[in-house]
Amino acid sequence: MRGTRLFYYAVSPSFIKTITEGLAKNKMAGMVKKDRIVVEKPFGTDLTSAQALNRLLTKNFKEEQIYRIDHYLGKEVVQNILAFRFANNIFEPLWSNKYIDHVQITVAEEVGVGTRGKYYDNSGALRDMIQNHLLQILSVIGMERPCDYAAECIRDEKAKVLKSVSKISAPEVIRAQYAEGAVAGAPQIGYTDEVNVAKNSKTETFAAMKLFIDNKRWKGVPFLLRTGKCMSQKSSLIMIQFKMTPHKIFKDDEVANRLYISIQPNQTINLIVDGKIPGIHMRLKPVNMDFTYNDAFCEPSPEAYETLLLDVLEGDATLFIRSDQVEAAWKIVMPILDFWKTTSKGQKKYAAGTDGPKEADKLAKSIGVQWALTSPNEEVLKCD
Ligand code: BG6
Repeated sequence: MRGTRLFYYAVSPSFIKTITEGLAKNKMAGMVKKDRIVVEKPFGTDLTSAQALNRLLTKNFKEEQIYRIDHYLGKEVVQNILAFRFANNIFEPLWSNKYIDHVQITVAEEVGVGTRGKYYDNSGALRDMIQNHLLQILSVIGMERPCDYAAECIRDEKAKVLKSVSKISAPEVIRAQYAEGAVAGAPQIGYTDEVNVAKNSKTETFAAMKLFIDNKRWKGVPFLLRTGKCMSQKSSLIMIQFKMTPHKIFKDDEVANRLYISIQPNQTINLIVDGKIPGIHMRLKPVNMDFTYNDAFCEPSPEAYETLLLDVLEGDATLFIRSDQVEAAWKIVMPILDFWKTTSKGQKKYAAGTDGPKEADKLAKSIGVQWALTSPNEEVLKCD
């Protein structure tokens, strides 16, 4: 009896056909229960190429053999969203348009494109980050309770979220490119001066958008998504803002409850609630209920890829993307990509080391909010 074979495609998309057909022809991956194909992103460059890639793979292998990887799904805190939502009964009643005002998902990076200019210049933030990582986070936040903690139950529910996203108004999506500046005190060249980037490149290194999930749970709740390179700090953060109390009885009950789920650099979940300041008068201030991984767990978190590669070896596809999910995610971004092809109107620049163009702030302001970049720190706890 031979062992499990894992074929890991971390190759340029142009090689995938040759490799796939070669593996199939030589029956290298012919044992459905033992042989697995891992496909790294980019999974296509648009809907048509992703569909063609799915057809190619499913013609040569069974879907259950194909593991489309998105390393964000292997990150500890992203996995913990499932535990947090579905193992704690207290959140379910609150997790809908009845109590949630809006949701923000930010993936901010300090790094620029570095040596990856050739790949990135044909990709951009929308394809590189939003089509996969941010939409995967969105589906974990938005999904219904799965029938079981089992790959197909979870993937069914996640796919439904992506299929329910309303068409995004493409002209309202913000796109921008980093210009020269300084990130964490270190000088940073502008995007078009990076190696292997076209001098007249229009590729976006920052994108921000608002979208809606058109279903019973989420109708009317704006989801704000943004990502960028060369921003002021590294932060992958989900912020869920709850609605204000409908009938205020305290004059300083002015802050909405917020749940911050920080994926990195810190692994924390914080709930901001109002509390009474000790004293003879009834005065309130927001306080931070804090769950920090370092304090709560003794075990260090494994790297996302450690988890995911072990899952492939064990044949567990829970944290991998199914063909319908990948296509649904492309369908969400296609109107934006198509629109951007027709016009360069609206392209902005932002200085490296800042948090993107002011248009992104205006997008948040259009629903009466501000972006959150980090989870609350000592500020909230500080004594007056
Ligand atoms: C990759 C993108 O998928 O994710 C990179 O191609 C990006 O451009 C990276 O830098 C971010 O991953 P992480 O784990 O550092 O947040």
